[in-house]
Amino acid sequence: MQIRKASHHELDTIYWMGFDAWGGALVPTEYLASSQGSKKYQSGVWHVLVVDNQPVSSLIVYRDSFGLGQGCFGIGSLATTPAMRGQGFGAHLLRAVTDMLLDAPDAIATFLHADIDHHFYERLGYRRLPGVDCMYFSHRRPHYVGEPPTYF
Ligand SMILES: CC(C)(COP(=O)(O)OP(=O)(O)OC[C@H]1O[C@@H](n2cnc3c(N)ncnc32)[C@H](O)[C@@H]1OP(=O)(O)O)[C@@H](O)C(=O)NCCC(=O)NCCS
Repeated sequence: MQIRKASHHELDTIYWMGFDAWGGALVPTEYLASSQGSKKYQSGVWHVLVVDNQPVSSLIVYRDSFGLGQGCFGIGSLATTPAMRGQGFGAHLLRAVTDMLLDAPDAIATFLHADIDHHFYERLGYRRLPGVDCMYFSHRRPHYVGEPPTYF
């Protein structure tokens, strides 16, 4: 098992991981085209968890946008290939990327927006910000005060 930044040729595989959650009414070709053309996706850095040379889970990391302050990161679009879900890969990837980002000396916090039940993220140490679906993780500021980032 390996965690690393995604290569460009892996992006379509990554987009398919979340088709059931984010495809909405789009047919597969429309969904793929909208993902490939997404300015939001192009502004972030995709990370993957690789098993047997195949990316099975992915997430995207944003910084310097969406109202994220200095030293703060946004983590979005966590998804696991449907056939590989329920084996701990999503949790492992999120935990590892959170730790990696917060390891930098100037790092303060990571944020995410919970589209699913908060408990999944709370089990990984993320805390809820009052009144919003935004959650954060921080060693340095266990009680974050400030505006939450906008949705990403
Ligand atoms: C959420 C997701 C990334 C989890 O990936 P995974 O590799 O299966 O994660 P893990 O095996 O580490 O954890 C599984 C846990 O995720 C949680 N989970 C998964 N889908 C969930 C959902 N729709 N609602 C609430 N919790 C959910 C459950 O707690 C589950 O535990 P269980 O198997 O005991 O029920 C995966 O289900 C997925 O890709 N979903 C579609 C995309 C999505 O909704 N992403 C979340 C965006 S906020």
